[in-house]
Amino acid sequence: MNHRSSTPNRYEASIEQHRRRCQVVAGGVNSNVRLAGRPAPLTFARAAGAHLWDVDGNRYIDYAGGMGPMLLGHGHPRVLDAVRRALEVGQCFAGQNEYEAAFAEQLVGAVPWIENIRIGLSGSEMDLLAVRIARSITGRRRVLRFAGHYHGWLDPLLVGAGPLPTPYGRPPVGAGQSLAASDDVLIAEWNDLEVVAEVLDAEDVACVLMEPVMCNTGVIAPADGYLEGVRQLCRRHGTLLVIDEVITGFRLGLTGAQGFLGVQGDMTIYAKAIASGYPMAVLGTSRELLAAVGRGEVNHSGTYNAAVLSVAAGVETLKILVETDPYPALERTTGRLVAELRRIGAHKGLAVDHIGGSMFQLRFGPADTIRSLAQYVDGSDQAALIRFLDALQDVGVRPTSRGLWFVSTAHDDAVVDETLERTEAALARC
Ligand SMILES: Cc1ncc(COP(=O)(O)O)c(C=O)c1O
Repeated sequence: MNHRSSTPNRYEASIEQHRRRCQVVAGGVNSNVRLAGRPAPLTFARAAGAHLWDVDGNRYIDYAGGMGPMLLGHGHPRVLDAVRRALEVGQCFAGQNEYEAAFAEQLVGAVPWIENIRIGLSGSEMDLLAVRIARSITGRRRVLRFAGHYHGWLDPLLVGAGPLPTPYGRPPVGAGQSLAASDDVLIAEWNDLEVVAEVLDAEDVACVLMEPVMCNTGVIAPADGYLEGVRQLCRRHGTLLVIDEVITGFRLGLTGAQGFLGVQGDMTIYAKAIASGYPMAVLGTSRELLAAVGRGEVNHSGTYNAAVLSVAAGVETLKILVETDPYPALERTTGRLVAELRRIGAHKGLAVDHIGGSMFQLRFGPADTIRSLAQYVDGSDQAALIRFLDALQDVGVRPTSRGLWFVSTAHDDAVVDETLERTEAALARC
């Protein structure tokens, strides 16, 4: 890759790290999401609060937030203390630890529609567990999911959004993936209730799986009545509704998108913000739906599931969220940032998609409401977005590589002021 920025030496040490990694690590990264290192691939030396520092000593105001987990900012002192104490307890027991009951009780206490949980490592795995439970309960195999949503990198849920078969159909899969694994997965455009009705009429569907707010392509809210409609259709057809709150959970409020939007699924998947950057994901549902897992009939296993440090971080993260209720302040900070970005970017065609909560998407295109992947593709000038994201990195503001911003409790007014100043400088370059 040809790494170019307005200040050529700014990334020297990062580029050297990348060069070394590329000799021994495929593509120089350990997650394909990080392949697009533009305008230069960064290597970070450390993080604190709302900031990251790269190995060249450049400071970034961080809005990537680890791709979502860092809701409390980097290195929240209470989380660090809890993890330090847990270090003395142990790491991995091939058995239970005392944090597990505490965590589950807290989560069940915080989210009224959750009675039982299982803890795993990643959102990808827990989405698959939900599908497995849905199949075992309903005796059906089909899964309906939506174009532009993401449910992890594993077969069978990683299916291409490609050109959609009309009005729904079997999606394409990536190189090396099993066609058989995704044989039962159907994909439809998001926010089209008629298609959901058509699929559930025509096929025996075990579960409908969705991000309640599409955050993996823009930030796209469900249209009025859409979630309620899907909920009703699922009930009518005996299909389970799985709500993937890996991004929205604990970010769109303590009860996530389901609390925010007032519609509840049958199973919920949490990850990211639930444990402040430690590897942990959760499936939460009723006692009844998890019973077969508890009896050992539906398999859910994993060496590192509920490892000591992760659950200790989860316990403390949930405690902080319940005790301090950071949501009004997060809403204020994010609202101000969104309003100011719209103001300073309007003349360049910058649109900001935000429905509430501490995440939003930048887009170059008409400020109209976007409702689907197809509309997003039409309404977003990707080349302009990439130019702007390159310029933002050069001035030390770091959203995710697709223009999604995550705000944390560490982003105070001074950080927002500095962000806006730097963002204006980046806009001037585009
Ligand atoms: C909505 C959603 N579901 C599932 C996943 C997969 O989670 P993980 O990366 O922890 O496997 C992601 C990851 O970004 C996600 O955004």
